[in-house]
Amino acid sequence: MAGVRLTKKDDGILVLSIDRPEALNALNRGIVDEIDEKIDEIEKDSGARCLILHSDKNFAAGADIKAMAECDEEGAKAFAFSPTYNRLAALRIPTVSAIEGYALGGGMELALATDIRIAGEGAKMGFPEVSLGIFPGAGGTIRAPRLIGAAFAKELIFSGEAVTAERALQMGLVNRVVPDDRVFAEAYRLAGKIARRGPVAVRRAKEVIDRGTAMNVESGIELEAAEWAKLFNTRDQKEGMQAFIAKRKPEFENR
Ligand code: CAA
Repeated sequence: MAGVRLTKKDDGILVLSIDRPEALNALNRGIVDEIDEKIDEIEKDSGARCLILHSDKNFAAGADIKAMAECDEEGAKAFAFSPTYNRLAALRIPTVSAIEGYALGGGMELALATDIRIAGEGAKMGFPEVSLGIFPGAGGTIRAPRLIGAAFAKELIFSGEAVTAERALQMGLVNRVVPDDRVFAEAYRLAGKIARRGPVAVRRAKEVIDRGTAMNVESGIELEAAEWAKLFNTRDQKEGMQAFIAKRKPEFENR
């Protein structure tokens, strides 16, 4: 049966997977509600350090067209995925999308709600919505231009054309491209690295980057300076620096 799985791995790494292969992991209300429930769990998990989104074969071929075809305006509002995607984007821990196969429309927007994207060489990414008489409605018109600039975002959104992983890398839509059979392994390697860093510092860095990009440079630098100085109240800062000086590995306590 179609569903969403949340798996706990070592070092506080969590993996969220969509399991609806018969529809190339197209997202319907039920799947998105399940993602929302999993986000509740992730928020409560004090041991969580990094979340990977990864589904077998296809990341997600977009919103379920059959489920929304007959929607009117109110129905479309009720079907919309943004509240859940916004919660995903606001998670305090870093999030990594590991993209194999298709990441289209609402699937691409799901990946855009994460911090980092790793794609397989054979991945196909884009926003086909205009072929359906709509435009991206789960953050695509807002997050894509901020990530890759308005010109590339307009090219993708106006043409509806899916791009290869290589082209997505040139645009900055993904962080890196690896062989298809290495996508999860590479995401896991990166997540492991993140998970072993000072957790308070990583979380606050995410917060400052996300809040700072919505500010002018002066206010952003002020925010950075204040938050940076606060880190010197943490046990992890003492441990990180003492471990460096003593030439040993730090043992962070997340406080
Ligand atoms: N919604 C519903 N069903 C979908 C789907 C989707 N987005 N994408 C694929 N499927 C279903 C197909 O209907 C098909 O089901 P049946 O076997 O029951 O016919 C099954 O998945 C396999 O798909 P195809 O036979 O089409 O596979 P293919 O390899 O020939 O083509 C594809 C793959 C190019 C991805 C094609 O499936 C496709 O174009 N899918 C739609 C992509 C799309 O337009 N996504 C955007 C949706 S709108 C959106 O996301 C709005 C938003 O902003 C939130």
